[in-house]
Amino acid sequence: MEAQKLVFNRTNTNEIILGNDIVKEIIARILRTRVAKRCAIVTNDTVSKWYLQPLLAELRSRGVTACEIIIEDGEKYKNFETANFIMAKLCEAGIDRDCPLIALGGGVVCDLTGFVASIYKRGLPLVLLPTTLLAMVDASIGGKNGLNLEQGKNLVGTFYQPILTAIDVSVLRTLPLSQLSYGLVETVKHGAIADSAYYRFILKNLSDIRSRQLNLMQRLVRRSIHIKKTYIADDELDQGARAHLNLGHTFGHPLEAAGNYVRLHHGEAVGLGMLMALKASSSLGTLEEDYTESLQSILTEFGLPIKIPSELDKKEILHTLSQDKKKNQDGYKFILPAGLGKTFIHKVGPDKISDFFLAAMNI
Ligand SMILES: NC(=O)c1ccc[n+]([C@@H]2O[C@H](COP(=O)([O-])OP(=O)(O)OC[C@H]3O[C@@H](n4cnc5c(N)ncnc54)[C@H](O)[C@@H]3O)[C@@H](O)[C@H]2O)c1
Ligand SMILES: [Zn+2]
Repeated sequence: MEAQKLVFNRTNTNEIILGNDIVKEIIARILRTRVAKRCAIVTNDTVSKWYLQPLLAELRSRGVTACEIIIEDGEKYKNFETANFIMAKLCEAGIDRDCPLIALGGGVVCDLTGFVASIYKRGLPLVLLPTTLLAMVDASIGGKNGLNLEQGKNLVGTFYQPILTAIDVSVLRTLPLSQLSYGLVETVKHGAIADSAYYRFILKNLSDIRSRQLNLMQRLVRRSIHIKKTYIADDELDQGARAHLNLGHTFGHPLEAAGNYVRLHHGEAVGLGMLMALKASSSLGTLEEDYTESLQSILTEFGLPIKIPSELDKKEILHTLSQDKKKNQDGYKFILPAGLGKTFIHKVGPDKISDFFLAAMNI
């Protein structure tokens, strides 16, 4: 199938292509960017089993040699140690500034590779080949990357745009359902923020999404990227409009942290956070259209929780909230829904945050 190039109204710093079974097209595009006949590929030991060989074969057939860098699978490897490991491999292989560095994997691989590409020899051409739904609609879009420190997640990172992001939705066929669900939450969020028709489209097609109907997945990814792009176009460095993309995150983060990032996955916490945002807006009387029920049915259909686990410690939740609060001394900005496809920023003063948050927990 022919890949389609996604064109956005605003000036683009990078190219995005989307399709299914488009390995040939991807390599052709990389070579068109006048890079060297050598490259390096970073992937992990799960994704490599499925998708590394076809990529290498296509590169080889075009006379390009590739240095393969395979890291271990898991969020806990998104750190300086792995970044150093990747850079050591790049040195050994003599990778230079005109050699593209290709990320093949989910958000973890994309974040690590993006970070390394931005600092190794002061910058290598970066190519992102995201393989999870979350990486396709979120982590690979916007030019951010991140590494975790022992002190917290994503505390280190740079802004660095890829020269190409190529999305082959056919890889979603091997993605576990739980991982598909975590990506879906972000697409639902995109609809809830900016596009009620898109939200309803997702609601109508839940079973075809579950079975990864490829044309549908393409429509989903295209629409979500478009929405994320419009929010970051004016705000590449994350100073204002991007905040709306935090719907469900401002509420979800303390839940995620209180469960030590183990009890609740990010996607689960964001789903709960969106329900909390609806509750908060409803209590304030600012909710014109309540879509709690349909959101609950989407989350349930995808095996995601709709109730906050009772074992999460309220004290721990409020502690994380107070840590977050320190960063926002003049009050905390919550993103709340005004209706389906519309959000607004609601400021809560430092002394009112705990009550506001606890009230919203009654979902
Ligand atoms: N930079 C950003 O703007 C941004 C935005 C959102 C999230 N992130 C980061 O992204 C990370 C989460 O990304 P993720 O959800 O993709 O997790 P992940 O990269 O850990 O991938 C999830 C799991 O799916 C496996 N996998 C990947 N593709 C597969 C495929 N096609 N078939 C079968 N298995 C596959 C992976 O090996 C892994 O086990 C977090 O570290 C988060 O901080 C970054
Ligand atoms: Zn998220």
